[in-house]
Amino acid sequence: MKYDAVARTLHWLMAALLILMFLFGIQLEDLSLADRREALPMHASMGLLLLVLVLARLAWRRGHPPPPYPDGMSRRQQRAARAVVHVFYMLMIYQPIVGLLQAASYVDFEVMAFGVWNLTALLPSDQGLKAVFNQMHGTGGWLLAVLVIGHVGATLKHWLFDRDEIPARMIPFLKPPADPPPSA
Ligand code: HEM
Ligand code: HEM
Repeated sequence: MKYDAVARTLHWLMAALLILMFLFGIQLEDLSLADRREALPMHASMGLLLLVLVLARLAWRRGHPPPPYPDGMSRRQQRAARAVVHVFYMLMIYQPIVGLLQAASYVDFEVMAFGVWNLTALLPSDQGLKAVFNQMHGTGGWLLAVLVIGHVGATLKHWLFDRDEIPARMIPFLKPPADPPPSA
């Protein structure tokens, strides 16, 4: 059984945007003040859009639970897979919220989201506070990156070694493996 089309679309849309946002984020610090003034509102607006998307995704998931894991996966494997999914969702919510707090305490200039919403008006501008949120946001970004690398590795393991239906549940155009012949 596959994830439904909405879950798959949201997975791939968010995966592409999150990877883009990570690469975007690690460039931000090296930009000149003038370039950062141009780029940061775009990063913040895209990040807030991702917050809306993850909440919509969770709401959809409540009404449309994922297909059950294949019988070939041990209970321990299933528990670990479920835990990783929970951590993913927590990080996908944590990251934009901490980003928002960072923009809210920003010191160098006012960060506008979607060209109209002054995020920096939400909290007092404070270098110390901004540094704490910057640290938390950087850590969240790297945790997400490490988890994604592990997630791709786990998908490869399912595809190449376990040869089960897991990759085809999410990856378009991949056919699930044929059922093994009944044992004699
Ligand atoms: C930023 C990048 C990514 C994030 C945040 C992410 C996150 C997730 C999450 C949260 C789920 C569980 C969906 C649910 O049950 O609601 C999932 C499933 C899945 N993802 Fe990703 N993913 C990312 C990238 C990728 C990539 C690049 C691959 C390709 C190898 C991939 C392959 C899969 C597969 C095969 C599943 C289905 C697993 C299952 O059937 O339980 N993901 N992903
Ligand atoms: C949801 C996905 C997001 C990802 C993956 C992401 C990723 C990153 C990364 C990796 C950095 C670099 C951190 C560092 O250098 O230590 C960064 C910087 C930053 N991000 Fe995000 N971010 C996201 C959302 C947001 C949102 C929603 C906002 C604001 C509303 C935001 C505001 C910022 C700010 C203010 C910086 C620091 C810029 C500077 O160097 O002064 N981010 N982001």
